[in-house]
Amino acid sequence: MTNQNNLEKTAIVIFGVTGDLTRRKLVPAIYELILNNRIPKNLWVIGFARREWDDQSLRDVFYKAISESGLELDRKKFEELFPNIKYLKSDFDQENGYIELSQIFKEKKINNVLYYLATPPDAYDTIIEKIGVAGLNDLKSGWTRIVIEKPYGSDLATAKALEELVHKVFKENQIYRIDHYLGKETVQNILVLRFANGIFEPLWNRQYVDHVQITVSETVGVGTRAGYYESTGVIRDMFQNHMMQLLALTAMEAPVAFSADCVRDEKVKVLRALRPFDKKDVLKNTFRAQYASGYISNERVRGYKDEDGVASNSTTETFLATRVFVDNWRWSGVPFFLRSGKRLPKRMTEIAIQFKQVPLPLFDWQNMAGDAPNVLVLRLQPDEGIKLTFGAKLPGPVNQIAPVEMEFNYKSSFNQKTPEAYVRLIQDALYGDATLFTRSDEVITQWTFTDRIVDGWKTNQAKYLPVYESGTWGPLGADQFIQGNNRKWRNME
Ligand code: BG6
Repeated sequence: MTNQNNLEKTAIVIFGVTGDLTRRKLVPAIYELILNNRIPKNLWVIGFARREWDDQSLRDVFYKAISESGLELDRKKFEELFPNIKYLKSDFDQENGYIELSQIFKEKKINNVLYYLATPPDAYDTIIEKIGVAGLNDLKSGWTRIVIEKPYGSDLATAKALEELVHKVFKENQIYRIDHYLGKETVQNILVLRFANGIFEPLWNRQYVDHVQITVSETVGVGTRAGYYESTGVIRDMFQNHMMQLLALTAMEAPVAFSADCVRDEKVKVLRALRPFDKKDVLKNTFRAQYASGYISNERVRGYKDEDGVASNSTTETFLATRVFVDNWRWSGVPFFLRSGKRLPKRMTEIAIQFKQVPLPLFDWQNMAGDAPNVLVLRLQPDEGIKLTFGAKLPGPVNQIAPVEMEFNYKSSFNQKTPEAYVRLIQDALYGDATLFTRSDEVITQWTFTDRIVDGWKTNQAKYLPVYESGTWGPLGADQFIQGNNRKWRNME
């Protein structure tokens, strides 16, 4: 798919090039793609931002960003591999900036362009509109695409407004909405595990699955992002996007083909099948909490309300557990428990498919029910792999069963580091493959479901949320939330 001829005379225009995302993710990813010969080194990267920088200062920033990312690098190699870097200083609402941009396109004979919005989201409208006004939304000489970062709106109404604006300027097949979880190698492996193997799929349904647990736990707090996080919380920061995408990939039917629209058609069907919450059901099916001070890796950390920029009466959740149902033939009646939180003891993302018990217990030790059920765990990060737990007879003249594990581990099997999500996503956007980007109807359906939860919370306004000590797996209420029918959270030791 990576025919580099398609990338002759191509530019990536990064709006917000002076920001954190560009430095930490975009530039190292672009460099890695050049280094591995996935994209040509004559590609132009044009930075568009407000600061008083010039081409040289941008080059220096890129160099530093790449060296900080840990990629192999020396100045000579960098100059040789990454020669085409240009800085354009302009406010986002200045039409002159866009005229200058079009002159650069002419001068450098650019035929194809990938716009990348790496700015705070309040600049999206202006930039998109101005690109349209300048007529730069469709370079007739080749292709024109736009990558839009999350957050894609802050609720259904704002997401729809953004959709409307973007669609005035770009066609759907030009729009690449990022959910960086889809760029993670192990997230893509969910589909490979399910649809490249014959043995799992027959079990992947309500007949055999008791419930599914999807956990994204983080040890970090809100850091310097309180301004953003206060109005976001886990529900908008993690649930509306990353977690709903993990759910869709886990629950979807096999696509007709592995192509952008076929895969996205199946994902959106799952999202549409989610049982909508009535306002009164929301509190029963969600559990929120907030971190208090505590210890992470033996270091004392502050509570959420003591973080800079957090209101002393904040009711923003830093922990969220939800119980959702996919009302279709495959999943009817199977609960999906989704949980995510900050300041939990371990950083891990996993999807656990817990299977039902055998119909009749024949052995003393409950046939693997209770403490050690049959579970297939897809570990997405950090130590990526897949694990199946089952019962085996303990050696000796007793009829006792012990839980054992069959395990596949990415690192030991393939002996390479798993690439950064952005490497794959930028490559795909350049080559026009939108499979790992969310489509308009997905984003809107995700917000429709999320908004109902938020509305339910608003109706039953909480004065305060339960708190949990940083470095623990949430308050007692979180454990009670999932309890019943031998269900409990899988907490990593
Ligand atoms: C981002 C959220 O989208 O994802 C952050 O805004 C979160 O709050 C991050 O920390 C988690 O991503 P990852 O790749 O570290 O699991």
